Amino acid sequence: MRSSLRALPFALTTALVALGACAKSTPQAPQEPAADAAVDASPRDAALAMDASASADATTPDDASGEPQTALPKDPYGAMKESARIACAVLAKGAQKNFLAPRDLKASFVDGDDLLALVNRSPQGALAPDYAPTDMVDIVKFQPRSPADCEKYQCLRKDAASAMKELLAAMARAGVPGHIESVYRSYLAQCVTFQGWVKRSDFCSAAEQSALPGHSQHQLGTTIDLFTAEWKASGETVFRQGFGCTKGGKWLVEHAWEHGFVFPYPIHPDDLHEKETCIPRGDHEVPINPKTGYRYEHWHVRYIGKDAARELHAAESAKDPHDPDAISLEQWIRQKRGLRGDTDVSVCDGCNCGACASLDEANACGTRAIALDTSGLPKTSASAPTITAAKLVAPPEAKGWSGAVLSVELDVPEHTLTQPPLVGLPGPGFADTSITTSAFVPLPQTKPRAYPALAGAVRVGVRVVGSGPAFPYTFGLGEPQVGRTYNRANLLLPAPSGKKAFLAPLPKLEGELEVAVLKGGRVEGPVVRVAPKP
Ligand code: DAL
Ligand code: ZN
Repeated sequence: MRSSLRALPFALTTALVALGACAKSTPQAPQEPAADAAVDASPRDAALAMDASASADATTPDDASGEPQTALPKDPYGAMKESARIACAVLAKGAQKNFLAPRDLKASFVDGDDLLALVNRSPQGALAPDYAPTDMVDIVKFQPRSPADCEKYQCLRKDAASAMKELLAAMARAGVPGHIESVYRSYLAQCVTFQGWVKRSDFCSAAEQSALPGHSQHQLGTTIDLFTAEWKASGETVFRQGFGCTKGGKWLVEHAWEHGFVFPYPIHPDDLHEKETCIPRGDHEVPINPKTGYRYEHWHVRYIGKDAARELHAAESAKDPHDPDAISLEQWIRQKRGLRGDTDVSVCDGCNCGACASLDEANACGTRAIALDTSGLPKTSASAPTITAAKLVAPPEAKGWSGAVLSVELDVPEHTLTQPPLVGLPGPGFADTSITTSAFVPLPQTKPRAYPALAGAVRVGVRVVGSGPAFPYTFGLGEPQVGRTYNRANLLLPAPSGKKAFLAPLPKLEGELEVAVLKGGRVEGPVVRVAPKP
């Protein structure tokens, strides 16, 4: 259910002024974020950030506080939100040479009232610009607040707020009093937040850690950026790495689920092991989690209800967090809904060309992106790629590769989908089989492993003649340079169309090989024989 915002509070006016300023100004060249830069918080949140341990009355919002309760025209938001969208797109297009396809910003396939709403980077994982929960309360007096009020006060949905109160009490009892930095953020507040971060760094860095408007779980009213008072006091910005290694961070990893909260962008697995890299630090480059497309954020907690959180916690605990098949909220919701793969693909923001998807042909990656239909589903080619040549070639010695290298050339139709693993780079002049050492990057996926076939995805399969019906070695047709990010997740990727060639690193295999195009795991077209190397 969606609600319309009906009032225009003072703080939102301020936000809109800030937005206008953002939209008109040219983003600066990438630079270090300002010391007080909040990756994830809006200016409003930053201003209202409160210590949960502080006296509630000291910061109590109150309708009797003298704030003007202005009567407003009926629907001032439509045009403003449209301009917010445009501002985001314009800003992105400007100096950074990236842009967001307008339709990707407008579409919504998600019901935000669902506690398990799948809100992610995908065009399918977006909330409508006018979505706001209808059962929000402020987090100080716990009084019902309208979405308009919540542009001014820190709010959460009622159940999430009660659970948060319980969690904060438990944190206090454990000797790690909490600090809430950011809670509900409207579409507009997220737009302002995102643009603020773009101005502090650059578009692509912003997109790695701050959600595009419509794609933030903070818009659900169930999500909190939660730290400890001690962490808050110990640095200029709370949004820095190392929080997960503190006593409070560890306590949250162990206990947040007991109160119905989970970590959608979980702590980096290395940081769970005290003796490895887990030390509080501000200068650590945090990698992106390929299963979510965002950096690890071990302070971003989301309320999904106690039963669901218990279930997810059990599923997460069942696997070593370093295991590529370990799951987090995204994968768990997908499994529950029967969705294949670990993630959807990203909105084409120009940063991940070759591994994104768009409803709009005017996207940053053009035909190198997966085109989505109006239901948000990928358009797929009726025909499969055909193999035009396949042979074993000499491995480039300088890379020290001791196995075999298969070269495969194919004709790939438009709208072909593929999936990991993505393998070696064919170099210039590949058609003449002149392979340079720099053109060959053996990736670690050289052994059979768990990349279950995704419906509609094409790969090349390899088996030894007589070894049985299965093709134990499979290779995706996507651009190998994105493999380093995407090979850790099993997701649909675009396969560039036209005449394509790639090199597949194989272990030493005895005998003749068979090579085939597989679609959704089934053989399409002829099986090609490849003689063993003399
Ligand atoms: N930092 C998370 C991804 C957000 O902006 O919602
Ligand atoms: Zn957050």
